[in-house]
Amino acid sequence: MTVTEETKATHVFPVTQVTESRRNAVNFQDLRFGDVFSDHMFELVYKNGKWDNGQIIPYGPVSIMPSANILHYGQGAFEGMKAFTMENGAINVFRLRDHYKRFNDSCKRLNIPSIPEEVFTQAILQLVDLDRQWVPKDKFKSLYLRPFVFATEEFLGLKTSTAYRFYVITGPVGNYYREGINPVKLTTMPDYVRAVKGGVGNAKVPGNYAASLYPAHVAMKEGYSQVLWLDAIERKYVEEVGAMNIFFVIDGKVVTSPLTGTILPGVTRRSVLELCQIWNLPAEERMLSIDELFDAWREGRLTEAFGSGTAAVISPVGVIHHKGETLTLDTEKMGPVAERLYKAITGIHHGTEADPSAWCTVI
Ligand code: COI
Repeated sequence: MTVTEETKATHVFPVTQVTESRRNAVNFQDLRFGDVFSDHMFELVYKNGKWDNGQIIPYGPVSIMPSANILHYGQGAFEGMKAFTMENGAINVFRLRDHYKRFNDSCKRLNIPSIPEEVFTQAILQLVDLDRQWVPKDKFKSLYLRPFVFATEEFLGLKTSTAYRFYVITGPVGNYYREGINPVKLTTMPDYVRAVKGGVGNAKVPGNYAASLYPAHVAMKEGYSQVLWLDAIERKYVEEVGAMNIFFVIDGKVVTSPLTGTILPGVTRRSVLELCQIWNLPAEERMLSIDELFDAWREGRLTEAFGSGTAAVISPVGVIHHKGETLTLDTEKMGPVAERLYKAITGIHHGTEADPSAWCTVI
C-alpha cells in the first residue's frame, strides 16, 4: 500500500521573482553535486525576539557585517534534504518532518531560537513549488535543498547572538561522489577525531565539517575519498564518515554504530534501519571496533560495507584502510544488501515503490 502525504503548498510568503530564469543554461544530463543553484531562495529574519519577514527572493549574495557572530564563533546550523520528480509527474519532498526535527535539535544545541515547524515546512514547500521546473525529471537525480541558519549580531564578545537569518537555497544534483555509485575507498585517521560525547557531533553544524577538512585532505592525497572516523576516546570504535553514516553486513546482519551522541542521526540511516525492519532483515545498532571489522573480513564474514546519507543516498565502500592494513570488498559494484536498499529508497523517492510510512510529502 502506498501511504503518501498530500500537501498543498499554500503560498503564504511574498515572492520577488527573477526577471529571467537561469534554468536553460543548465545541462540537466550532466549534474554533479552542489555547483548549480535554482532561481530563488527563501529568507527569514530573527530580531527583537521573533522570526519574521519571511520572503522568497532571487538567489543571490547575502550581506552581513564583518563582525557577525557566524564569521567568528560559528553559531549556525544546517540541513540537507531532497525533492524528487515522481513517476506520475508530481514532486515530493522526502522525510520533511524528520529533517525539521533534526534541524530544530541542531538549533537547540547551538542556542539558536527555534523556527516554528509550520514556517520551515511552508518555506520549503512554497520554494520547491515555485522552482519546480528545477527538479530534475530523471531517476537518480534530485533537487537538493539546503536550509541553513546563522547568527548575524554585530558583536565580538562571545555570547549567544540576538539576531539571525535563515535561508533555504536549492539546486539540481546528480551523484555526490565522483565515483558515482561505484564503491569508494575510506581510511581511518587515528591521529584526528571528529566528535566527543557532550560535544556537537550529533548536531548538523558547520564546525563538524570544517574540522574534518584537513584530515580529509590528507586522506585524499593518499588516494581515499573520505575518512572513516573512530571514537575519540579509545580510537577503536567505528563511528561515521562525515558525509554519511556507515553500515556493514557481518554474518548476514546489517550493523551500524549506535547514536551515542557523537554521530549524526542520519535521516537516510533511519530509512535503512526502518526498511530492514519491514523486510525482517536482521539489523543491529551496536559498537563495532575496527579490529572486529578486520577480523570479520579476514574470516570472510564481512560481506559488504556502505554509507548512507541524503547527498550520498546509499554509497558502497570497496576499500577500508587502517594502520597499514587494507580490507578490500567488491571494488566494482554494490553488494546485494546495498543494492536492495538503493533500489528501494530511490524507488520510494521517485514513486515507483510503495512509500511505507508517509515519508514523501507530495506537492
Ligand atoms: C547531506 O547528506 O545532505 C549533507 O549535508 C552532507 C554534506 C557533506 C553534503
